[in-house]
Amino acid sequence: MRIVLGVGGGIAAYKSASLLRLFTEAGHNVSVIPTEASTRFVGVATWEALSGNTVSSSVFDEVEKVNHVRLGHEADLIVVAPATADLLARAAAGQADDLLTNTLLMARGPVLFAPAMHTEMWSHPATRANVATLRSRGVLVMEPAVGRLTGKDTGAGRLPDPEDIFAAALAAAGLPVPDAGTAPAPAAGNAADGTALPSSDLSAAFGVSGALEGRTVTVTAGGTREPLDPVRFLGNRSSGKQGVALARAALAAGARVRLIAAHMDVPAPDGVELIRVETALELREAVHAAAPASDVLIMAAAVADFRPDRNSDTKIKKRDDGEDPVITLVRNPDILAEAVQERNASGTPGGGALPSVIVGFAAETGDGTAEVLDYGRQKLARKGCELLVLNRVGVSLVFGQDVTEVTLLSPADSETAPAPTYTGTKTEIAGRIIARISQELSAALPVR
Ligand code: CTP
Repeated sequence: MRIVLGVGGGIAAYKSASLLRLFTEAGHNVSVIPTEASTRFVGVATWEALSGNTVSSSVFDEVEKVNHVRLGHEADLIVVAPATADLLARAAAGQADDLLTNTLLMARGPVLFAPAMHTEMWSHPATRANVATLRSRGVLVMEPAVGRLTGKDTGAGRLPDPEDIFAAALAAAGLPVPDAGTAPAPAAGNAADGTALPSSDLSAAFGVSGALEGRTVTVTAGGTREPLDPVRFLGNRSSGKQGVALARAALAAGARVRLIAAHMDVPAPDGVELIRVETALELREAVHAAAPASDVLIMAAAVADFRPDRNSDTKIKKRDDGEDPVITLVRNPDILAEAVQERNASGTPGGGALPSVIVGFAAETGDGTAEVLDYGRQKLARKGCELLVLNRVGVSLVFGQDVTEVTLLSPADSETAPAPTYTGTKTEIAGRIIARISQELSAALPVR
């Protein structure tokens, strides 16, 4: 994965050299962006030698590469360590007065700050407010460690250990976190199966940020089953893995999670409020009841578009007259589109109508990427939701597989900020989606 490592101007800057090592040894490509002040502590030569990439603090170096836009845009993850009080303030204010703050404004993926400063600075109301602002936007801000500070004093404000920042960074990106003392996790793409990341590890990373603290997230998952008779149904191959991964990531980010589960091949995670459903109509009822009290609705379930027009009370028998039975299908309601319409009828998402963020999924086939994107955009417009997770199927099947590729479409996509595409395990993808939802949510409304 591509990582931007921002380095603030504090004495702890030297510890980020170890952090950089952990990232590069795990196979990640790291671009270091030190602030001008930090180069008084650790010079550019150190960062270039350790990262293997050119390093600058200024937007006016290598202008032809448009680094102030490119680095943030291409980064799968941005980690700022140490994050000084000044850097937190500039980031919270949205300033763009050097390469690092420009890059933070361009970020499309998760952003993690590891603060280091004196206890007085950390507990100052200005810093508290800046940290709260950043967290409300879905930025992950770790708690500093407690211990010996620069002088003789001790207290909260030490940079967390590089290993802890490394683990929090991997979890923020949805990658498996290695146990303490084991080798670093493999780079994205080589990651283990989608269920490898224990929620406790994720909580440790997301919990410090509480990106979805105080929020209620409803996730639908699995495939509906539409009964024909007491023993038969029409179903689909959805495994429920993506929905379960999303529920786990939302839990880990501090949300209260309702999981509306149709048929799934995997168990529901601990800690969710579980609502079991069978058919599309039951799922619709459950969504209808849960949506108005949810900040986020994620429609990851594979809902049958059609159901048999009748459900026979008795088993349909082979017939003696040789006639084969004919099954007539009727359309199921579009639950996602209905949820958007009902929400919009009750007010605007920015004006408090819930859910503030509604996320749909689309599995599309097509001859080329452009065509698939076109179908996706049309579906996004048709459904009216805030985000559409577009899966291209056909090249490699998505259903039941652990590695997948998605594009996150939103009505705000533009040529300068195109929809991002992510490849990874369902856990990694879930982390991306939850990080993006946190951003959308904080743009829509503060925590109630
Ligand atoms: N969905 C829904 N109600 C349905 C069908 C689907 O809420 N009756 C939701 C799914 O949970 C998913 C999204 O809508 O979030 C998928 O959209 P859909 O139009 O069903 O996709 P396809 O089945 O691919 O539809 P089409 O065949 O029209 O392309």
